[in-house]
Amino acid sequence: MSGLHVGIIMDGNGRWARQHGLPRWRGHVGGVDAVRDVVRGAPDLGITTLTLYAFSTDNWKRPPTEVGRLFWLLREYCQRERNELIENGVRVTAIGRRDRIPRSALAQLERTEWETAGGRRLHLRLAIDYGARWAIAHAAHELAKQVAEQRLVPDDVTPDRLHEQLTGGVPDPDLIVRTAAEQRLSDFLLWEAAYAEFHFSSTLWPDFRRADLALALSDFARRERRFGSLDTVRGAGRLAG
Ligand code: FPP
Repeated sequence: MSGLHVGIIMDGNGRWARQHGLPRWRGHVGGVDAVRDVVRGAPDLGITTLTLYAFSTDNWKRPPTEVGRLFWLLREYCQRERNELIENGVRVTAIGRRDRIPRSALAQLERTEWETAGGRRLHLRLAIDYGARWAIAHAAHELAKQVAEQRLVPDDVTPDRLHEQLTGGVPDPDLIVRTAAEQRLSDFLLWEAAYAEFHFSSTLWPDFRRADLALALSDFARRERRFGSLDTVRGAGRLAG
């Protein structure tokens, strides 16, 4: 049985920087430390898919210097961590638009995707220039094209077909974690989160570590999940595998 899929909305980098009297970008540097630790710890917590919301389609509204720093950090992360990711059996893929990602960051990201393709312990999905509404519209557009080319008929466009087009078979998230005490989805995995559980942590993302993730999972383990039926599945049932 496959393990858990956890999605994380990493929030609070700016507040962390402010609390420490540092410029905003230093909060993002601290955010990368948290990413590193959580990725290292996730497999031992029973997680086999981890989706991290690193850059949303709306984050382009931030000042260009901050956007530039974020993509620089992404490039650095890919370059520096690639070998460790390979050694630890982590497969990296990106979800979201690719046409607006700065070229040097995209090159490192795609190299990391190819070189980690054999990883089997953890599927790390980085949501970059990602928005769920965009992703759903993109999947619908692909199906519309197939209808126009008469490879599908309109009746083939069902929730299952759209789901497959959108997710490529990646299991839906079991748990979505958001840090920094905010309680909203912010256009993250809207379709896939239909039956997800939520955990909101007040910890700011740069302070978040695998122990905080373990806490989120023990909260999840107490949840009773029904997926619309009368049968109860405890969150932990998925962990026990
Ligand atoms: C939200 O904090 C965080 C982001 C918009 C960016 C997340 C990026 C990273 C953690 C670093 C890069 C990631 C990888 C995978 C290498 P915020 O700036 O909105 O914080 P605030 O709400 O406190 O201002």
